Amino acid sequence: MKLCMIGTGYVGLVSGVCFSDVGNKVYCVDKDKKKIDLLNNGKVPIYEPGLEEILKKNHRQKRLIFTSDLKKAVDNSDVIFICVGTPTKKNSNSAELKYVFNVARELKKIIKSYKIIITKSTVPVTTGDKIENILSNLKKRKLVDVVSNPEFLREGDAIRDFIYPDRVVIGTDSNKANKVLKSLYLPIIKKTSRYFKTSRKGAELIKYASNAFLATKISFINEIANLCEKTGIDVKDISFGMGSDQRIGDRFLRAGPAYGGSCFPKDTRALIDIGKKFNTNLSIVKSVILSNENRRSLSIKRIIQIVNNNFDNKIITFLGVTFKPNTDDMREASSISMIKYLNKKKCKIRYYDPSGEKVEFKNLKNVNYYEDLRDACLNSDLIILHTEWNEFKSLNFKKLVKKRNFKIFDMRNLYSPDKMRKSNIKYFGIGR
Ligand SMILES: NC(=O)c1ccc[n+]([C@@H]2O[C@H](COP(=O)([O-])OP(=O)(O)OC[C@H]3O[C@@H](n4cnc5c(N)ncnc54)[C@H](O)[C@@H]3O)[C@@H](O)[C@H]2O)c1
Repeated sequence: MKLCMIGTGYVGLVSGVCFSDVGNKVYCVDKDKKKIDLLNNGKVPIYEPGLEEILKKNHRQKRLIFTSDLKKAVDNSDVIFICVGTPTKKNSNSAELKYVFNVARELKKIIKSYKIIITKSTVPVTTGDKIENILSNLKKRKLVDVVSNPEFLREGDAIRDFIYPDRVVIGTDSNKANKVLKSLYLPIIKKTSRYFKTSRKGAELIKYASNAFLATKISFINEIANLCEKTGIDVKDISFGMGSDQRIGDRFLRAGPAYGGSCFPKDTRALIDIGKKFNTNLSIVKSVILSNENRRSLSIKRIIQIVNNNFDNKIITFLGVTFKPNTDDMREASSISMIKYLNKKKCKIRYYDPSGEKVEFKNLKNVNYYEDLRDACLNSDLIILHTEWNEFKSLNFKKLVKKRNFKIFDMRNLYSPDKMRKSNIKYFGIGR
């Protein structure tokens, strides 16, 4: 098939690359010309394991085209995916939909023959109806079907998630569009996964309900971790004991910092706003948001306790700053509020992250990026293990730090408190 992905961010690029790899011709469009130039030069603007190789292969074979020419891409495609961002609107909880609607307005001017328009972006319930309104002339002439197909991939595991999804959700009442999409997804759903057709509004809500539920799991175990700290219980035992129950499941049940990233914070907020519009009080989601905000301040309080409120000339090193491993995405990462707070204290902050330097910290006076993990750790007073990248999982801290009385704050519970105690390292975990 011939496809057009509008927006080549984490979702549009990964989906486009994976669709081309199963034999489709895919036009990846972005209004950011720098991104398109990079891609045309075989460079990948995001950190996503495995992406570059598949991208280059399909680009070479001319199944994958990167362009800023929307008209050309749309004219040559049968199915058009909208994959632009839907961040939180300023001073509100609601999703900013201007990027989505701008695309719809552009499509209105371009489309001359039948196309399936799909929102892959996470959009509030009834957004599909609004897109259809914008395209009403085309709809009347039966030139478009507007479908919802939310994306569930996780950054860092995006390719695997796209190729082996737990489910593909399609929201449409058009049999014609459904038939086309079923055959588009056939190579992907053939083996293990499920293709689920529902209403357009249903598909839109499935995405928000899924993310809010996962955020709830994280906040739940984080609060249980607080209780564990007071009662001398190891929260890892609780995660295991609970997670072994198949009704509960062990994923997203590991205590750690506040959840961050480009999805959970904004999607939980947007869901509250959707509830408000439809006069429904989503009190559980509201308390999850509050719990996560509390967690951000709690992490800072914990650091204050660990250093006995004495920051003078301390060297504090963050290992990992992204919201999760295997991505370079810093959106709403919990490290940001911690580092911004510490920057105001009389201490020196260093950070090392396998995905590189971060613009978020570039202008902070006391914050320095280190390209080498050993240089970052040398002579530190406190190491904060913020993100569980694989390379942080079996470090010899004594050899790395080479200083007496240094401390470790392991926010991902990667190490054994017993072993640390035996090595005379002052070690602090989460909920243990
Ligand atoms: N990032 C994830 O892990 C993830 C997972 C599932 C769903 N989603 C959802 O997918 C959507 C996209 O997320 P993302 O993280 O890929 O966003 P992103 O910010 O990484 O990328 C969006 C891209 O769209 C481009 N764009 C904006 N307006 C455009 C236009 N008119 N024409 C062409 N390009 C345009 C931007 O330049 C940018 O490159 C969001 O709604 C998000 O909630 C994201």
